[in-house]
Amino acid sequence: MDSSISIILFAFSVLFSSFMVSFSQIKNLSIVKEPGSFPRNFLFGTASSCYQFEGAFLSDGKGLNNWDVFTHETGHIADGSNGDIALDQYNRYQEDIKLMEDMGVNSFRFSISWARILPKGMYGGVNMAGIQHYNKLIDALLQKDIQPLITLAHYDIPQELEERYGGWLSPKIQDDFGYYGDICFKYFGDRVKYWVTINEPNVMAVRGYRLGTFPPVRCSGSFGNCTFGNSEKEPFIAAHNMILSHAAAVTIYRTKYQERQGGMIGISLNTQWYEPFSNSSQDNYATQRARSFVYNWFLDAIIFGKYPEEMQKILGNNLPIFSRNDMKKLENGLDFIGLNLYTAAYIKDCLYSVCELGQYSSWSEGSYFRATEKDGVYIGEPTTMDWLFVYPQGMEKLVMYMKDRFNNTPIIITENGIAESDNPNSSLEDALNDTQRVEYMHSYLNSLANAMREGADVRGYFAWSLLDNFEWLEGYTKRFGLHYVNFTNLQRTPKLSATRVSAATVAVVNLLL
Ligand SMILES: *[C@@H]1O[C@H](CO)[C@@H](O)[C@H](O)[C@H]1NC(C)=O
Ligand SMILES: *[C@@H]1O[C@H](CO)[C@@H](O)[C@H](O)[C@H]1NC(C)=O
Ligand SMILES: *[C@@H]1O[C@H](CO)[C@@H](O)[C@H](O)[C@H]1NC(C)=O
Ligand SMILES: *[C@@H]1O[C@H](CO)[C@@H](O)[C@H](O)[C@H]1NC(C)=O
Ligand SMILES: *[C@@H]1O[C@H](CO)[C@@H](O)[C@H](O)[C@H]1NC(C)=O
Repeated sequence: MDSSISIILFAFSVLFSSFMVSFSQIKNLSIVKEPGSFPRNFLFGTASSCYQFEGAFLSDGKGLNNWDVFTHETGHIADGSNGDIALDQYNRYQEDIKLMEDMGVNSFRFSISWARILPKGMYGGVNMAGIQHYNKLIDALLQKDIQPLITLAHYDIPQELEERYGGWLSPKIQDDFGYYGDICFKYFGDRVKYWVTINEPNVMAVRGYRLGTFPPVRCSGSFGNCTFGNSEKEPFIAAHNMILSHAAAVTIYRTKYQERQGGMIGISLNTQWYEPFSNSSQDNYATQRARSFVYNWFLDAIIFGKYPEEMQKILGNNLPIFSRNDMKKLENGLDFIGLNLYTAAYIKDCLYSVCELGQYSSWSEGSYFRATEKDGVYIGEPTTMDWLFVYPQGMEKLVMYMKDRFNNTPIIITENGIAESDNPNSSLEDALNDTQRVEYMHSYLNSLANAMREGADVRGYFAWSLLDNFEWLEGYTKRFGLHYVNFTNLQRTPKLSATRVSAATVAVVNLLL
């Protein structure tokens, strides 16, 4: 190991004391698999999404999207809020890029508001003011050597598509999404080298069409409170169209742009690490079902061209079928798997055993129970989100699982983070002292480094999130940011975690380049 590397390693080890990457691993990271078509840099950055950050919901010709409409209906959002203004990043992006510069990160994950550039999807014109906005954002990032990683659809779709043909329930959305991708690659792809087609399609399918807690609020009686829907069928139809929409965009990227633009395109799934509740073969099989019904649902379809066996067996005809033409599009697969990972759970069988009733225990969900504790002990340290327990070893385990199942396809951790509850009584000083987040990131990065040492091809890590933001159904009551945002005057202030990252990233970026 040469001495400059050891100095960097030393600096880094002081700051994030045990996140160490061996020198041979560093060299591995620079191996360009297909010269000219893959970038060299390990991405270290923060993540965001347009609806949670941008605001400016009616500015400069933007059309309405499904989240604009949903949040304006009463009763959906905990604090009755919405993303009309959000963090006003639409107007404050330069200030936010300065925050990134201060942290020393080399990338930023954001999403494009589909309705901002195509207010009526493919049934109307391109809104050039929207294109100009993203051009300015991309250029300002690149000027600071911050690589953009762009998500095309991060929950929001133009309301027009919902009203015209039922959004994700219709196969028509495949062409619409392909067209949208085409526009983005055409206008931005000369400078943008990392694309995520869809963020957490698994969450959109389950929340929008099984539980009815996200737009378009569709479900059946025993699953939620909706006027329309079919919780046992529609999630699989919507998911099928999301998978084929991904394939449509990737096919266009592969055939029209990738060779010239030289970027990578993938998809981001919401994941958890699942531990069997016991060593019984039933709980082990239930754990496999949980993985299949939550993420292999999408990844197997995109990478292998078929749904997981566990799903086929249980769902039979309720699972849509890929036509010969679909299969052809699916052959374009993906270049990287995006993993949004926060937490873990124990999995108990409900297929052969009597178990607690709850979400996931019905047959169309895979017949298992997700437990967060065993013998009265939580799986990890609890946090302010009832579903989020700190389980850093899950990072290594999940990444190794993906490596093995998907033949070491490149992986990018597209989200990882933790929230504080908004407490109007706490002082700013206390709100900035986010020691739990610092420890969380430290332990998860350390675990990620273990997977990389074991040979997993990990290309990047994005902390969720750059700023406190609009946390969907929780509104502004949860704070996921590395920077504190005063939601009254929108002032941003670095939390302890942001300053730790700023010290550490200089080292990590040097280390991994
Ligand atoms: C179901 O939704 C309707 C309309 O949004 C609302 O009035 C009602 O209170 C809800 N019922 C329950 C049990 O949440
Ligand atoms: C599974 O079995 C191993 C070896 O018998 C034991 O060490 C472990 O604690 C068991 N795990 C569970 C979850 O029961
Ligand atoms: C803030 O203080 C008020 C008044 O003392 C109290 O009623 C409220 O519960 C506190 N809120 C929180 C989140 O602690
Ligand atoms: C947020 O801003 C408002 C208005 O400027 C101010 O009154 C309040 O004290 C600020 N809150 C914190 C926690 O700094
Ligand atoms: C931050 O919180 C930790 C405990 O979580 C405490 O030990 C430390 O003194 C606090 N720092 C400041 C500046 O308040």
